[in-house]
Amino acid sequence: MLKDSVQTALNDQVKQEFYSAHVYLSMCAWFEDQGLPGFAKWMRMQYQEELGHGIKIFDFINDRDGKVIIEGVEAPPTSWANPLAAFEAAHENEKAVSASIDDLYNLADGEGDHATKVMLQWFITEQVEEEASTKQAVDRLKLAGSDSSALLVLDEQFGSRTVA
Ligand code: FEO
Repeated sequence: MLKDSVQTALNDQVKQEFYSAHVYLSMCAWFEDQGLPGFAKWMRMQYQEELGHGIKIFDFINDRDGKVIIEGVEAPPTSWANPLAAFEAAHENEKAVSASIDDLYNLADGEGDHATKVMLQWFITEQVEEEASTKQAVDRLKLAGSDSSALLVLDEQFGSRTVA
């Protein structure tokens, strides 16, 4: 049985994961519009991952006999100054998600909710990877600078992303 405080925080996390999904889908559309299909594919796959994250918590709340509350999410941005700015925003978003997961873990710890803590350990590991992958993109785009040939090489590389 979930305590109310943990249930509320878990529902907030579902909302944050679905917001992240919408951010990445919006970035996917923007990259398509920029003529960069590789980055767009990467963003589309990230969108699907975020939906999976939200559903993972959704299922956990149900498994613990809690109540899922689906709330509307705010509209994501629709454009970015350049590919680097888009990935910088993605990286900042991932850092915010990591902080939220950490807060949730601390809350579950304080409530003695071992089941929620164990479930969240998967997310803590996942966030290390998500922060690293978006930071790697930022670093590579900084190296590419204004070299459009380098940008197209990166687009090709990001387009080769496969399902983890
Ligand atoms: Fe589900 Fe990228 O945080």
